[in-house]
Amino acid sequence: MNIKFRLENNNDYFKIEELNREAFWNLYKPGCDEHYLVSTMRNHPDFIRELGFLAEKDGKIVSGIMYTRSSVINEKNEFIETATFGPLCVHPDFQRIGIGSALIEYTKEIAFRNGFPAIIIFGDPHNYYKHGFRTGKDYGISTMDGKYPFGLLVLELKNGILKNHKWKFKESSLYNLDTDNVNEYDKKFPEKEKMHKYSQDLFLMMIRSFVE
Ligand SMILES: CC(C)(COP(=O)(O)OP(=O)(O)OC[C@H]1O[C@@H](n2cnc3c(N)ncnc32)[C@H](O)[C@@H]1OP(=O)(O)O)[C@@H](O)C(=O)NCCC(=O)NCCS
Repeated sequence: MNIKFRLENNNDYFKIEELNREAFWNLYKPGCDEHYLVSTMRNHPDFIRELGFLAEKDGKIVSGIMYTRSSVINEKNEFIETATFGPLCVHPDFQRIGIGSALIEYTKEIAFRNGFPAIIIFGDPHNYYKHGFRTGKDYGISTMDGKYPFGLLVLELKNGILKNHKWKFKESSLYNLDTDNVNEYDKKFPEKEKMHKYSQDLFLMMIRSFVE
């Protein structure tokens, strides 16, 4: 497969918004928010520029991943800066041929080299267990309010860094999106039909699920 990875640059920004809109449209809600989210990320101090990668196939952008700064704090008030990715997407025409997996594998090495000892995300475990991610509960990592969501997933890049503590995870405030602005932002793109899909019901079930 002729896939090339490279850092994104400002000529790619709108194309990556379009790509996210194609990949997420009607997946988790009728329409999607991710193209708007992406448009707000790059000027935020938590955005990690060194980890904003895309994948090209025959010169066409087919996948993108963006990372933000996050952190965990333990019972002794010790603090570790972690990396969080999202959104990650592959164009629907190129899904299930290994591109998403390859981009995760590629960027996790770079995250480690940039000093991040762990990656912590909210995502669907079906997509990430195969990459070594485990539930936050396995590492004693909860949300700030002490819960262990099903979708809170952890990958240690530095072995043992999270061992033997209770941690709370704090993600960037940039994910607390003001979704009122999405409809207005969406007018920049060609019209697309919003509809219900069963993946939206599964998503709702997932975000209401917690690990005991
Ligand atoms: C989720 C997503 C990023 C995964 O990327 P992807 O490139 O489609 O995923 P991959 O091809 O690397 O792996 C997906 C599956 O295809 C399989 N696969 C990989 N290469 C394959 C090949 N050549 N032939 C057949 N199957 C293959 C993998 O084994 C994997 O199977 P599994 O789910 O049973 O483990 C992508 O599908 C996507 O953008 N989805 C919509 C947006 C989204 O949900 N983003 C993530 C938010 S949590």
